[in-house]
Amino acid sequence: MVVYHLSTECYPIAKVGGLADVVGALPKYQNKIKGVDAKVVMPWYNKSFVHEHEFDIVFDGFIHQGPNMLQVQVLKEKTDVLGFELFMVRIPGLLDRDNPYGYQDESFQFLAFQHGVLHWLSAMEIRPDILHCHDYHTGLVPFMIEHCHEFSFLRGVKTIGTIHNGEYQGMMSWEMANYMPSFDSYKWGLMDWNGFINPLASMIKCATAFTTVSQGYLEELFVSFRGLESLVRDEFGKAYGIINGIDSDVWNPETDPMLDFNFNIKNAIGQKRKNKEKLCKEYGLKPELPLFAFIGRFATEKGADFLPDVVWRSIKQSYGALNIMILGSGNSYIENKLKEYDYTYTNFALDLGYKEHLSHKIYASADFLLMPSRVEPCGLNQMYSMRYGTIPIVRYTGGLRDTVEDISTGGAGINFTFPGVDDIIHAMNRALGIYNEKDVMKNLINANMNFDFSWEKSAEKYIALYKN
Ligand code: ADP
Ligand code: GLC
Repeated sequence: MVVYHLSTECYPIAKVGGLADVVGALPKYQNKIKGVDAKVVMPWYNKSFVHEHEFDIVFDGFIHQGPNMLQVQVLKEKTDVLGFELFMVRIPGLLDRDNPYGYQDESFQFLAFQHGVLHWLSAMEIRPDILHCHDYHTGLVPFMIEHCHEFSFLRGVKTIGTIHNGEYQGMMSWEMANYMPSFDSYKWGLMDWNGFINPLASMIKCATAFTTVSQGYLEELFVSFRGLESLVRDEFGKAYGIINGIDSDVWNPETDPMLDFNFNIKNAIGQKRKNKEKLCKEYGLKPELPLFAFIGRFATEKGADFLPDVVWRSIKQSYGALNIMILGSGNSYIENKLKEYDYTYTNFALDLGYKEHLSHKIYASADFLLMPSRVEPCGLNQMYSMRYGTIPIVRYTGGLRDTVEDISTGGAGINFTFPGVDDIIHAMNRALGIYNEKDVMKNLINANMNFDFSWEKSAEKYIALYKN
């Protein structure tokens, strides 16, 4: 069974968030299953990975985007070093950028990616068994292979659309239809939602099946999906919730080269303390106090807007009996507020930016990881923290409620239901209540590290779905 994953991100080539981690791991684990050949197709980026590895040009052609003729090159990494065949689509001017997102002409960029991939597959007569599309950036593929004349060779290929984040749907005005490969115009309704082309809605309508990255999130989409609630209800018959796993080759505290002190379940307490002492020293924190951490994008979906108030209130209310460390970036109001508190409170440390190495060190050093998300389709941070013996404190939503059980019901994490500062502080107080109980902490650390989040089970579930 030949599967092509289409995605704008893939770890370690280009990562903005969890999408990259999933696309960098899932195909590798799928390839361990007999009879499966999973590959990844992504845009070409000006990233160190592409300069440090050798590629063959396997296709060189042209597409038309409106009045513009664009060159399309497909480059294949020579050695399959990531555990799968990696193809990168290069289109000068659109798919040769430094980063996946943040450009004014994103709609052109993602249309060009989808068009370029399908043009290449059709021209070379490559007919996969499954095209697996990730998020809205590839959401028009299921429509295109059925209704664009240029891709008639691919008609009937089965498609899976995975929703990693339904907050982003890629809506664009109907004028953009002029920049798509020509399609059966009477089928326009399959792309439309409320007068716009909505790639995520189109993916749900046209894909053979669609998935969300947890069962909990799928259930939430019925009531909160930025206007697509009724659509997901209508199409529920082909919806599946499959939880993400984590790449245990990359996220293994025993071998992780990004850690100062590696550890396993037997020596976790002592080694975690050493990691924490080093990190605290570097950031001027107090290693004898509990360390709460947050890692992530400063976006409202992550509840990052609560963080400034959480910082000052928790430090004040505990009379300075805790440390907080935050790594991330995003909304500038939040960044500025946190910078101010970084200056004011010695118990608080802030590192603004995207730092893969530091994130690993924090997962290994912290006592508690905060995830006050309003929306969390799956969430990987809680799983990484658990693997690294750090107790997750999470809002009970989406994938967080599927993966973190509260200590009061026999689990090894802390949950709260309402997204707000009071509830976060209350949850942190519960954490402070157990921090000094050595045996309790030890049991929780063990229980978290013992959790099985490996990709094997979920990779099997996707294969079963493909076969179905
Ligand atoms: P999302 O994809 O919505 O941002 P996930 O929990 O699925 O959330 O994945 C986030 C991923 O990005 C994790 O691998 C996390 O460690 C990483 N990450 C987020 N922010 C940063 C940062 N500032 N520096 C390093 N890694 C980060
Ligand atoms: C999205 C979601 C996150 C999920 C990730 C990987 O970025 O916000 O919850 O873990 O995709 O599926």
